[in-house]
Amino acid sequence: MSAIKIASEVYWVGVQDPQLKLFDTIMELTNGTSYNAYLIKGEKHTAVIDTVKATFAGEYLDNLAEVIDLQQIEYLVVQHAEPDHAGSIEMLLDMVPGLTIVTNYTAYTFIKNIVNREFKVKFVAHDDELDLGGKKLRFIGAPLLHWPETFYSCLEAEAILFSSDTFGSHFSDDRLFSDLIGTDFLPDFKYYYDMILGHFKKYLWNALKRINALDLKMICPSHGPIFRDDLDHFIDLYHTWTFKPKTEEKPRIVIAYASAYGYTERIKNAVKTGLESEGQFIVADYDLTRVASAEILAAVNDCAGLLIGSPTINKDAVKSVWDLLGSLSPVDTNGIIASAFGSYGWSGEAVPNIIQRMRMLRMRIMPGLRIQFNPAPEQLEQARQFGIDFAKAVSSADENLEEVLAYQRQVNPLNPFSFNAGNYRRKYENEDIIVYWNPEQCTHDTNCFVSLPKVFAPEKTPWVNVNGDSAESIMKTIDACPSGALKYDIKPGASVPPGLKKGPGWIGYYENK
Ligand code: FEO
Repeated sequence: MSAIKIASEVYWVGVQDPQLKLFDTIMELTNGTSYNAYLIKGEKHTAVIDTVKATFAGEYLDNLAEVIDLQQIEYLVVQHAEPDHAGSIEMLLDMVPGLTIVTNYTAYTFIKNIVNREFKVKFVAHDDELDLGGKKLRFIGAPLLHWPETFYSCLEAEAILFSSDTFGSHFSDDRLFSDLIGTDFLPDFKYYYDMILGHFKKYLWNALKRINALDLKMICPSHGPIFRDDLDHFIDLYHTWTFKPKTEEKPRIVIAYASAYGYTERIKNAVKTGLESEGQFIVADYDLTRVASAEILAAVNDCAGLLIGSPTINKDAVKSVWDLLGSLSPVDTNGIIASAFGSYGWSGEAVPNIIQRMRMLRMRIMPGLRIQFNPAPEQLEQARQFGIDFAKAVSSADENLEEVLAYQRQVNPLNPFSFNAGNYRRKYENEDIIVYWNPEQCTHDTNCFVSLPKVFAPEKTPWVNVNGDSAESIMKTIDACPSGALKYDIKPGASVPPGLKKGPGWIGYYENK
């Protein structure tokens, strides 16, 4: 399909992939997809927004060449480094070696490892502008939609938003515009939201606020139809899906269990009694062998705590438990308080195996409970107490939980985890606190900028503002940094409460332990 003019001096230069049946190995497609890329000709400079999947590089370069001499392209804006959009950067660099890639630092670290060569780069942050002469692009931070580096670009005078994967659909159609296509793509629009964006609702919240402040005439996503008509309708759909009203007054704790001979179920009943005695939670229990997995997954979504019960059979948890654990995403379960319990006969691997998987899912772990065979009255009391302790852990009793970094060593074994100050390349400080950051060690777990957005703002430069909150709050957040990429030290004479306990985020924690 050829390049298409979509506005004055703005062109769609992407490719259609109508035959694709499986995207990213996870999404089954019925209508293929497109990899949308755009070219903007200013009076002085020309910029391209994104590339396409590598297998379509030839068609992409042909489309670009239809509307411009490739040597006149000065900027390539990379809004997202996933290879369906960044896969042809290498081929574009082959053709235009002097090209400047406009992106943020996080994307840069990804692109380097995709193209494996040096290139010119211009770093941009939220609200920065790129003046093309008569046309100006303003960049809008949209981290975690759906990768850490993602951002949008807005052609302000023309009111066109290039929205990366947000508002995308896997739907291939040469008519290109939603108003020409009709409503056929709407199921794919929702499916795309559920599979790609829906895990990141808290980040969409911020992005939609930023989008609402723009008076847009066109939204150009990176997949599927472009929107130039009835934009409010599509933005409203995103609002509806993202801001689900809370229907429960109390936080929810989910117990999902399977029981072979009723022993694990008896433990579950005692645990539930303990949880309910604390009175702060809605406790919902599900027999994994009887309740549909979709119902259980919906209950786990947004829960504050998750307990899984399983007997040990053949030295492992049972299949229904693994089916549940295999369906959970570390994105959705990040930070959930979790533990496991179960009856066993002679070896008892189910509980530690479940807990190991929970660690991989970025849950915060309370040690589990195993009882051999049929629980005696005193063991049922132990199970009831386990429920009480778990309720307290969910209510911020951190002392009941495993230390964050202890399990991160297992979660990310490739990370060298050198905690010496010299290993931390970046330093941010005020009179109270020094914050250290090692970008190579960072796994973008998002805990920091979810907890303290005034201090940690990845779309800004510098991304750490040590004056954004108190030293104590910063310490608490960094203590929970799962990768150890962030550390802190307290300066002599700092105005923090005397005797303030320094946790695992302290740069000297392990040396002084
Ligand atoms: Fe369409 Fe996240 O790549």
